[in-house]
Amino acid sequence: MKFRLVRHFSLTSLVLFAAIGSLLGLYYREMALSRMIRQQENNNVNLTRVFANTLWQRHFVDLLEEAGHTSSSNLKTLSRIPEIHRDVLALMRGSSTYKIKVYDLQGRTLYSSELAQIGEDKSQNPGFLGARDGQTRTELVHKEKFSAFEQVVENRDLIQSYIPQFANDGKRTAGVFEIYSDVTPLLAEIRDTEIRLLVMIVGAMGLLFTSLFLIVLRAERIIRRQAEENRQSQQQLAQAEKMGSLGLLVAGVSHQLNTPIAFSHSNVSLAISAIRNLELPMRIASRFAGVVRKLPADQHTIKLDLQKSRHLLSNYSAQPEDIEHLCLMLGDVLQGLEQMRELVDNLRDFTRLDRSKVVDTDINATLKTVIYIARSAIPSRVRISESFGQLPHIDCNPSQLNQVFLNLITNAAQAIEDSGEIRINTALQGSTIRIEVSDNGSGIPPEVLPHIFDTYFTTKPKGIGTGLGLSIARDIVRNHGGELSVATQAGFGTTFVVTLPVSAPETVMQL
Ligand SMILES: Nc1ncnc2c1ncn2[C@@H]1O[C@H](COP(=O)(O)OP(=O)(O)OP(=O)(O)O)[C@@H](O)[C@H]1O
Ligand SMILES: [Mg+2]
Repeated sequence: MKFRLVRHFSLTSLVLFAAIGSLLGLYYREMALSRMIRQQENNNVNLTRVFANTLWQRHFVDLLEEAGHTSSSNLKTLSRIPEIHRDVLALMRGSSTYKIKVYDLQGRTLYSSELAQIGEDKSQNPGFLGARDGQTRTELVHKEKFSAFEQVVENRDLIQSYIPQFANDGKRTAGVFEIYSDVTPLLAEIRDTEIRLLVMIVGAMGLLFTSLFLIVLRAERIIRRQAEENRQSQQQLAQAEKMGSLGLLVAGVSHQLNTPIAFSHSNVSLAISAIRNLELPMRIASRFAGVVRKLPADQHTIKLDLQKSRHLLSNYSAQPEDIEHLCLMLGDVLQGLEQMRELVDNLRDFTRLDRSKVVDTDINATLKTVIYIARSAIPSRVRISESFGQLPHIDCNPSQLNQVFLNLITNAAQAIEDSGEIRINTALQGSTIRIEVSDNGSGIPPEVLPHIFDTYFTTKPKGIGTGLGLSIARDIVRNHGGELSVATQAGFGTTFVVTLPVSAPETVMQL
């Protein structure tokens, strides 16, 4: 599958940059908010201290005392409330505090700057419960509508703190303050900064992305160019290997043609001189026939004058059996021509296949041609035996597969030092065609075996092996959707197995 570097990079980095940008934004927001809440909490605690210092002893200690004997519904009516309210409002004026409430330890509202809330029960509120146990509880809340000091405000962000008020011993909680302060402008500022930060992050990431994109684009161009160069050099390698095996074939074929040509040549030369010997009897017979044609029909005898021809006839040695001999010689020539025609036919098949691309192919038939051609290239001490099973035709590139088979057969022949045998079997196994090329040659030593499919790996002397055969063969077989495997035993022989799927995969069509 083609890997599109630029597309992958763009998608991945955009997603990553967006995630990093959002995370940074979120992180900033969380940090700013928690800092703001901490600061406001401190403010509220300080404020509470101011309230407590000013008002606790003066008003709230007695109010608590008095409230102890008063029911919640009557708390509003306590006589101290108006005075407390006046003092509280005086303290609140000009500050960002919107509301102050004071609770007793039962959670009853003893005082609220919004007087109507006096007497309300907050005993179940987690903030109140925490503060009653001595801990300050603060949170950010948003209120659509909020009745604040002397007014009703809308859409405000508020910091709400529950703060414990300790008794004189500093250990026991005597009551709980609840304070609301307005942080809407602060929060708006945080949002503004957040947006500015996001714009900066997006800008920086955009710059980073653009420069990386340009680098990746350039890298992809280089990779593509290198892949193309690689493909071309692979093609050249394959071509070189093909030329190598063709060279071997040409040598074998010319050797094979040599024998019939040589004896045909000598037989035809002999035949020509034998035919020359027939010239005299032919000439005599022709003269004799001319004389006989001119004789009257009733004349049956003639007189021969041998004076001129006696010398020629007495030296003439040809026999009628020579005709038979001549026919035999020409018969041999005919047989030689037959052999040459067979060779030429096979060569034509071989080269015809070379031109074709992917075609419907009978693997057994192409193997036969390869074996025929290979026979001319391998020594006669190596026997080739074949056993072909019934195979369905398959779509393949026969020229490329020929190159595979030829290399396997050549390798097998080269592995046989003295005499030996190469066996070629084909069989159909389910939906797979299996082609086995076995030899009883040297086998492959264990230390060599892992490298035999490596490009340029060869154990043969320079000029004999290039080390490309098996690596190209494996590529070709894999491109056909098949596999090339090997089983070997050093000293006993080797079997290479080519498996090909009966129904070719899509990729075969591109071969
Ligand atoms: N049938 C075999 N028996 C023993 N060794 C083999 C056999 N086939 C291959 N080898 C080993 O594998 C090596 C690699 O084979 P490959 O066909 O790739 O290259 P080569 O035959 O050396 O050269 P080339 O095929 O390019 O002319 C050979 O050099 C040989 O050592
Ligand atoms: Mg080889």
